[in-house]
Amino acid sequence: MEFPIYLDHAATTPTHPAVVEAMLPYFTDCYGNPATLYSVGAMAQDAVESARERVAAALNAFPEEILFTSGGTESDNAAIRGIALAHSDRGRHLLTTPIEHHAVLEPMETLARCGFSVELLPVDSEGRVDPDDVARRIRPDTILVSVMHANNEIGTVQPIAEIGTLCRERGVLFHTDAVQTAGKLPIDVRALQVDLLSLTAHKFYGPKGVGALYIRRGVRWTRFQDGGGQERGRRGGTLNVPGIVGMGAAIELALQDREAECQRLRALRDYLIQRLMDAIPDVHLCGSREHRLPHNVHVCVDGVEGEPLLLALDAAGICVSAGSACSSGSTEPSHVLRAIGVPRDRARGALRMTLGRSTTQEALDYTVDTLAAVVRDLRRLGGVQPVVSSASL
Ligand SMILES: Cc1ncc(COP(=O)(O)O)c(C=O)c1O
Repeated sequence: MEFPIYLDHAATTPTHPAVVEAMLPYFTDCYGNPATLYSVGAMAQDAVESARERVAAALNAFPEEILFTSGGTESDNAAIRGIALAHSDRGRHLLTTPIEHHAVLEPMETLARCGFSVELLPVDSEGRVDPDDVARRIRPDTILVSVMHANNEIGTVQPIAEIGTLCRERGVLFHTDAVQTAGKLPIDVRALQVDLLSLTAHKFYGPKGVGALYIRRGVRWTRFQDGGGQERGRRGGTLNVPGIVGMGAAIELALQDREAECQRLRALRDYLIQRLMDAIPDVHLCGSREHRLPHNVHVCVDGVEGEPLLLALDAAGICVSAGSACSSGSTEPSHVLRAIGVPRDRARGALRMTLGRSTTQEALDYTVDTLAAVVRDLRRLGGVQPVVSSASL
């Protein structure tokens, strides 16, 4: 068995060796600035455009609909602020959910402070949005609906195509944060009827610090980052050429064996859930059984704190995420668990395990056995002080 046993693939993934290899020449031989006209720059520009074609093909989009960014946070900010700014003459009402990543919730809060009206859609106890609730809440002044494709903590997958269809019918723009689903679920922007979609490379074995925003052709949108005329005037700043090349390579690799790998992950996920339930008394699965990311297991363990569990597992060579606190190190239950109605005490024992390419059944057996022993000890000892969590990533 190889250590560490890394079970935090929703936080980030290791960069695939073939991706690193594809990136390397763009640090050394092909180091040109893609905005320049001579051949070293043109080589970099060609590589960027070929990566754009790969990302576009993965989404069933046109290359000119792909804007490269610095990651999921920038893509979400650019989508929300860019639409709000461009469409404020039509209306100032925005709809989103209480379980979005902070990269969506915080720009929404900023806009609310600037006179926009931000309304949160209800979610059920599994974290699902009902498309009928979206339909009921759309108003004549609604300019944008933003609902994430799948949640980063509890793994709940949303009915994006249904919401997309009704937004299109009602003439309201629709954004989805697909950061957690790329490489896991099929993403076809035409079938999903989304107008804007956020991605980040480091969640699908690409490099950190690079992402993309899909903006459908013809959608009026105001740029977020002023500066040079890069990205056809839509985002100022010299492009991260090695990162973009890496993103293109990673998305292509992810799609090559997506179905087989996700089937393997789904089987391991269900195995882990069952083994946890069998081995540890009073463990509760959060999120949906049916509409769940193939690699996500999120449980609350009664009578213990998630963070000491995390530290004890780390000492045994296992990396997981404590899902109870926000990344600031707060001891408050996460906004996601609060929104789905997990009682405060139960939310303190939240643990997220997200599987990936390196995950084996043997590693999961070791994890469950270790966790069962740690839970027994902690329950005997009582509560311990919490530390920082990565489940909000
Ligand atoms: C759902 C979701 N959206 C956005 C982000 C932010 O992405 P990035 O780390 O690339 O800024 C993350 C990851 O942390 C995420 O899980």
